[in-house]
Amino acid sequence: MTTGGLEDVVAANSRICDLDGKLGKLTYFGVDIHDLARYSSFEETAYLLWHGTLPTKAQLEEVKVQLAANRALPDPLLQLMRLLPLKTPPMDVLRTTVSALSAFDPDLHDKSTDANHRRAICLTAVMPTIVAAWDRMRNGKEPVAPLPGGDHATNFLYMLIGEKPDTYNAHVLDVALILHADHELNASTFAARVTAGTLADMYAAITSAIGALSGPLHGGANEQVMRMLLRVGQVDQAESYIRGALERKERIMGFGHRVYRTEDPRATHLRAMSEELGKRTGDTRWYEMSHIIEAYIKEHKGLNANVDFYSASVYYTMGIPIDLDTPIFACSRISGWTAHVLEQYANNRLIRPRAEYVGPKNVPYPPIDQRR
Ligand code: COA
Repeated sequence: MTTGGLEDVVAANSRICDLDGKLGKLTYFGVDIHDLARYSSFEETAYLLWHGTLPTKAQLEEVKVQLAANRALPDPLLQLMRLLPLKTPPMDVLRTTVSALSAFDPDLHDKSTDANHRRAICLTAVMPTIVAAWDRMRNGKEPVAPLPGGDHATNFLYMLIGEKPDTYNAHVLDVALILHADHELNASTFAARVTAGTLADMYAAITSAIGALSGPLHGGANEQVMRMLLRVGQVDQAESYIRGALERKERIMGFGHRVYRTEDPRATHLRAMSEELGKRTGDTRWYEMSHIIEAYIKEHKGLNANVDFYSASVYYTMGIPIDLDTPIFACSRISGWTAHVLEQYANNRLIRPRAEYVGPKNVPYPPIDQRR
């Protein structure tokens, strides 16, 4: 009998992301995530995921121009968002609006690789606009149009706060976007590939992926981490809180991973940025608490912090509302999702596994009035 989680099952051949859980090594098309985090930009990383090679200067410039050209949200979609109740979770708004984008695609019938590349850029460009616009709408503010130029992370923060962001914050968001961009056959990417495998369009595939990412065992974990830190409240309460949580056999969000058995290489950068942001803002509480909790869980459960653990305090220290943590993850992972959808289309076969039947057999069919 199989377990429900498909662990260690290889379900696709892919050239995009190599993930070695024993060594804690992560590469996109062979380029080490540490190099990308240190030297790259989100735009360059997205290009790498879509094309398989790092861009030249001209190619990078071109991708920036294309992203800028597609960043504004068509007005009917803003109107559609205004119909949603203000309490709608941002991930649900993102899922609904991305799904509706297909209705505004001028050449939806065009299934060519070029058209799908255009869609990948368009979806990547517009998702931060949706997230930022929703946050402003629900707070009674008007959405802010994107800057005519500027990088992706700067634009995201600008549309969210309505003014040019601090350059270090924009750098931190840029690195966070790089770190979240792809991660092999995680649940949401698998969902995207399964949907694309039916030859449904890219919007359908990405809508599936956003739904899968929203759960607390996947992208939703970062929000839950921050809610836990807020419950802890004080640095000197961190150890007793986490001891109690483990005694109550609670699952601690932001720890453990299906593949990594060592440090998640993405956590290394997020931890450092959490500490640095704490120093710069003069509020190191969230970093310090996180550090204590991380050490305790490592010692008592042998579990490592994953990508979601330190991203929580990073975003919170930057003043980003907690329920935007998972949408930000989506705004990065869209680059990886679309790369995987392009790869799936390029060599498609329907993904249709079997289930081992463990239910009852030979059950008689009595008329309804004879059933008890
Ligand atoms: N807190 C406490 N215990 C945990 C844990 C956590 N975060 N993650 C795993 N464990 C424990 C389980 O209780 C289980 O112990 P047991 O064998 O004594 O029952 C064991 O480790 C294996 O856990 P399991 O859920 O079977 O592993 P998985 O591979 O299915 O789970 C995750 C992977 C990511 C779903 C899991 O680690 C988790 O729920 N983490 C918290 C959510 C999270 O941060 N998700 C984001 C991932 S990037």
